[in-house]
Amino acid sequence: THVVTDACIRCKYMDCVEACPVDCFYEGETMLVIDPNGCIDCSICVPECPADAILPDIDANAARWVKLNATYAARWPNIARRKDAPADADDWRDVPDKFDRYFS
Ligand code: F3S
Repeated sequence: THVVTDACIRCKYMDCVEACPVDCFYEGETMLVIDPNGCIDCSICVPECPADAILPDIDANAARWVKLNATYAARWPNIARRKDAPADADDWRDVPDKFDRYFS
């Protein structure tokens, strides 16, 4: 499966939503996650994300996001059509470690 990392936080560009052939993105207030049970590992979303927020779960940098994606995909609503990104998305695009800085 693939996972969304904290690089998505407050960016939510939504290009991934349009790219996904199996509609397995789920939307929270500040980021999206991928349902590990729906993802077919096609990787189409990876180059579509302007924030480079999506990784295969076998990536060393993906480990801490695997459980978060699974947990919140079960709680948050599915999103199959893109919405507008937040107006200040670009301000957050290059901010590193967003989860640790703002949510823990
Ligand atoms: Fe987030 Fe990238 Fe999608 S910023 S909403 S994972 S295109």
